[in-house]
Amino acid sequence: MSFAKDFMWGAAASAYQVEGAWSEDGRGPSIWDICCQEGGHVYENHTGDVACDHYHRFREDVELMKEIGLNAYRFSISWSRLLPEGTGNVNEAGVRFYNDLINALLDNGIEPYVTLFHWDLPYALYQRGGWMNPEIVEWFGAYTKLVAERFSDRVTHFFTLNEPQCFIGLGFLSGTHAPWLCSPLRDTFAMAHNALKAHGRAVQMLRTYGKRPLEIGYAPTCSAACPEKETPEDIEAARRMMFSLPEDLRNWTWNVAWWSDPVLLGRYPEEGLERFAPYLPKITDEDMRQIAEPVDVYAQNIYNGKCVRMGADGKPELVKRYIGFPRTANGWPITPESLYWGPKFLYERYRKPFYITENGLSCHDTVSLDGRVHDPNRIDFLARYLSQLKRAAGEVDLRGYFQWSLMDNFEWEKGYSERFGLIFLDYRTQKRILKDSASWYREVIRSNGETLREA
Ligand code: FCB
Repeated sequence: MSFAKDFMWGAAASAYQVEGAWSEDGRGPSIWDICCQEGGHVYENHTGDVACDHYHRFREDVELMKEIGLNAYRFSISWSRLLPEGTGNVNEAGVRFYNDLINALLDNGIEPYVTLFHWDLPYALYQRGGWMNPEIVEWFGAYTKLVAERFSDRVTHFFTLNEPQCFIGLGFLSGTHAPWLCSPLRDTFAMAHNALKAHGRAVQMLRTYGKRPLEIGYAPTCSAACPEKETPEDIEAARRMMFSLPEDLRNWTWNVAWWSDPVLLGRYPEEGLERFAPYLPKITDEDMRQIAEPVDVYAQNIYNGKCVRMGADGKPELVKRYIGFPRTANGWPITPESLYWGPKFLYERYRKPFYITENGLSCHDTVSLDGRVHDPNRIDFLARYLSQLKRAAGEVDLRGYFQWSLMDNFEWEKGYSERFGLIFLDYRTQKRILKDSASWYREVIRSNGETLREA
């Protein structure tokens, strides 16, 4: 199998994780600024106040992207940099920053892929109820309109929400991300419904105010269900598990169907409507029409998967990992086949051109005596995963792949303790060093994946 000729090889990052300049030039705070600064939540009380200082160093970063040979860069816009209060007054300095970034990318032949929301909710909107307030649908719509008006003359590719599972599940249910809350279930379902409506509203706004035909998508996440053996029974078991809902209600956000069926099929999964009934908000036909506003592409952030087989009782069951199962530095299982089965099952169900919007790993990277950063584990991981994606290319309309991340950055509650980048960051000096994996990736990109083995 081969990748399509115009396949997009990219890398991704997000505003709060790299930009820094948290209060500069009129930017308003997001929930991440306020909660990190308060202390007590993040590893060693790290904050994104400075992060990778990308706000000031983006030109150098674009040079490095060019050196890696990236076709595309996926970044998110900080809502409160454009609209410090979340609504109303526009911060022109913020608009200028993204204009400069977009122009620098285009000048260097790198296609910008913009994510509208990567978790950094403006604090001013949080104070007005945030995702609980149904008005957020229009707040997000107005912000999207501004983005379309200012940037869509040059940006063609937009994703609405990044991983709603996380900003609702981790932010408001398990209390591990900003704003570190453990809310009643009822509230989390209401917030999720509002978030999906906001997604739909954003799609409408991009279509209406886009300066030319745009490619619009959505970027949730999943742990892909993979069959233990490639038998029809295990494959069917994995397919069923891929779209089933978790038993444990406090874990309800970890699933594919609740977040994607409404967007792509226009309905919530029946199983969930029954099981979650006591906690659900009022859901109208009009809501569902808005949520299902047609998108052009579908994407998922896939880092790993679970192993599934058909049980003797005819029900799918999880296969326990063997002792010593390979894991990344932050403990995530290494499961290359998730980049085959994930895209395959998702494409079977949703039939949309597909992107992997994030994939990668944290390693214990250090600068060696020779001054370079050798990261053989990352190269091995990416080689394994990408060869599985290459297998999927035969069955799925695959449009692109974004490695997470362009550079080491602020890894949410883990602060700077995890390094996911192709580029190493020395946070004392802001010096950037291309890791070995960046040079390896350059060859993959140059050959359009021909250097990869097929799984
Ligand atoms: C994803 C997030 C991204 C990054 C990676 C490691 O869940 O979207 O910002 O933190 O995980």
